[in-house]
Amino acid sequence: MKSDSPDKPEPGSPHPHAGRDDIPPGAVLREHVYDGIEEYDQRLPNWWLWTLYITIIFSFGYWFLFFTSRALPTDSERVAAEIQRIEALRFEQMGTVDAETLWQMSRNDTILAQGARVYSVNCAVCHGANLEGGIGQALNDGEWRWGHDPMDIHSVVDLGSPDPMAGMQAWGRQLGPRQVAAVVAYVLSHNDPGNMFTAADSPGRASER
Ligand code: HEC
Repeated sequence: MKSDSPDKPEPGSPHPHAGRDDIPPGAVLREHVYDGIEEYDQRLPNWWLWTLYITIIFSFGYWFLFFTSRALPTDSERVAAEIQRIEALRFEQMGTVDAETLWQMSRNDTILAQGARVYSVNCAVCHGANLEGGIGQALNDGEWRWGHDPMDIHSVVDLGSPDPMAGMQAWGRQLGPRQVAAVVAYVLSHNDPGNMFTAADSPGRASER
C-alpha cells in the first residue's frame, strides 16, 4: 500500500475526508479505501437493532416449538396431513373398494383414525386391543383362514364368516360400507403386504362364496 494512501493519514494531518461534499453531515467514514470503495462507520438505529434482537429471540422460540418440542406441525407436515384428508374424502366417495384401494387406505392417517375407533368399539373384545387375537384370530400375523386377499378379509367383516357357527357376524349392515372399509384398512395397516398368506387348513376364500 502506498504511503500516501488516504486510509493511512499522517498523524496530526486533517481528516482525509474533511471538506468532502458527498458525505452527509454527521456521517463518519472508516479510514480505509479498497479499490475506491469506502465504508460508513455509523451506529445502527435502535429500531433496527431491536428488530434484529427480536428476530434472534423469535428464532429460538420458533426452533423450540417446531423442531425440538414438536408442539406445532411444520408446513410440510400440515400439507401432508391435508393431502391425507383430501385422499380420505376421495376414498369415502368411492362406492366400492378393491384390494389396491384397501392397501392405499391402510396408509392414510385419516382413514386409520376412523378404523381404529370402529375397531376399539366393535372388534377389540374378540380380537384383542392390539389385534393379537382372543375369541377370534389374531389379525396382525399375516395368516388368514378365509384367504389373504384384502377383499377376502373385507368379505369376512362385511358379510360375516362363511362358517355360520364360527361366531364372526356380518358387520356390513350395522357399520355401513365406509366404516367396514376403514376398519379393514386399519387391520391391514397392522400387516406387512409382503407377508400375507392363507392358512394351510383354509376351507376356502371368503370372497368366492
Ligand atoms: C364376538 C366376537 C367377535 C367380534 C366382536 C368380532 N369378531 Fe372377527 N372373528 C371372530 C371369530 C370367532 C372369527 C373366526 C371366524 C372363522 O374362523 O370363520 C373371526 C374372524 C375374523 C376375521 C377373519 C380372520 C381370518 O383369519 O380370516 C376378520 C378379518 C375379523 N374377524 C375381523 C373383525 C372385525 C374387523 C371386527 C369388528 C368390526 C370383528 N372381527 C369383530 C369373532 C369376533
